[in-house]
Amino acid sequence: MRQALVLAAGKGTRMKSQLPKVLHEVLGKSMLQHVIDNLRAADVQRIIVIIGHGAELVEQKIAGVEFVYQTQQLGTGHAVMQAEQLLAGDSGTTMVICGDTPLIQSETIEQMFSHHEQSQAKTTVLTTTMENPTGYGRIIRDEQHQLSYIVEQKDANEAELAVCEINTGTYCFDNKALFHALGQIDNNNAQGEYYLTDVIKIMREAKERLEAYCIQDNDETLGINDRLALAQATGLLKERLNKKHMIQGVTLVDPSSTYIGSDVIIGEDTIIYPGSVILGTTVIGSNCIIGPNTQLTNTVIGNDTHVTQSVLSDSRVGNDATVGPYAHLRQQTVCGDNVRIGNFVEMKKTQFADQAKASHLSYLGDSVVGKNVNIGCGVVTVNYDGHNKYQTQIGENAFIGCNANLIAPVIIGDNGYVAAGSTVTKDVPTDALAVARARQENKLGYAKRLRERFTTKNK
Ligand code: UD1
Ligand code: CA
Repeated sequence: MRQALVLAAGKGTRMKSQLPKVLHEVLGKSMLQHVIDNLRAADVQRIIVIIGHGAELVEQKIAGVEFVYQTQQLGTGHAVMQAEQLLAGDSGTTMVICGDTPLIQSETIEQMFSHHEQSQAKTTVLTTTMENPTGYGRIIRDEQHQLSYIVEQKDANEAELAVCEINTGTYCFDNKALFHALGQIDNNNAQGEYYLTDVIKIMREAKERLEAYCIQDNDETLGINDRLALAQATGLLKERLNKKHMIQGVTLVDPSSTYIGSDVIIGEDTIIYPGSVILGTTVIGSNCIIGPNTQLTNTVIGNDTHVTQSVLSDSRVGNDATVGPYAHLRQQTVCGDNVRIGNFVEMKKTQFADQAKASHLSYLGDSVVGKNVNIGCGVVTVNYDGHNKYQTQIGENAFIGCNANLIAPVIIGDNGYVAAGSTVTKDVPTDALAVARARQENKLGYAKRLRERFTTKNK
């Protein structure tokens, strides 16, 4: 069985943040969640996360994994030891990976596991070469070019410091051999920490088989320690994902100003204009036009739909629809096919059936709007009395005149007609017209008299 231990107990001092480091986001998803998702995609069945700093928050935000506490951060070896009770009995391979390396791809994780399993090594270390290896543990090989040991920057001598092959902090271990070797490490080193990397030396002395798996792409192994690296990771991941979408037939008019999260799905021939930020579990159909300056989060868009200069979250829009400019759909708003949602229309928790239209300046909250309804300019569902929220239902083919207030809870029947400017407080029956406004009175000649009075006064 493949299992993984994710090290995420450290404070991340250099982030200068109240938030635990691993919860900082790269394209809308926490670094830790990236690592977990990449492990899952490589068929890792069991994932254990070691937490310490900000443990409570990490537990709240991350689902579907096991957690182990490391109350004092005494080093990476000490961190792994905290999982001994959970893992020691198991055979199979344990990957140890850091929670702050969100760019390691599932393909690389997969290759690491296969390499490790095929070579029957007790440890396989993922390494890379860097022009400037400062700060990283160095990979020291013997005359036969075999992995000999890993030395930390602070413990290294001059010859060791000159080595450019570094430890990325990702490993595959034979589970039993790992815990056996961990029993023998100490903290006799420059940092007074229990180093996980010392198990290499111990296994080497026991003449176990060790492997160093070197990858070319050192972007993938970027460990995020500060906000500079966080921005760098966002840039690298953005580039990688944008390229994937373009290869799959999506036009990105300006990839540099387009931000697409790692779980987003986009159909062929969709065009994304600049300034768009598309995150979470968003799915966009084919032949859509999105943007410019559009933000989609956890939103599903059908085919042939246009969304311009708008913000949509946790919502759905059907096929052949138009949204925006300047619309805001949120909190489980579900719109059907061929809907038209125009400028300055906000919808919250609203169902908006096929062919319905709200073309200008409206708020629809907690509403169910039937097919082919026309919502006039300035219509407001008055869903909140300061304490509770209430529903508005509008039947098929209803026409709601401009600037009507619908005081919820209220039902407008099918084919109902609400006169412009009405404040509707009672249900409107099917096929009825509701007029709920003061009757107009015309005072003939009054305006003229008024004007004359003002002009004489001002002389
Ligand atoms: C570690 C490696 C180093 C490697 C580098 C790659 C060791 C001794 N050194 O160094 O060879 O080049 O990673 O980035 O392992 N953590 C805990 N508990 C602890 C200590 C750390 O959970 O007690 C976690 C941290 O939150 C972090 C990860 O382990 O996610 C790595 O720890 P860090 O202190 O950053 O190790 P490095 O000094 O960078
Ligand atoms: Ca680190």
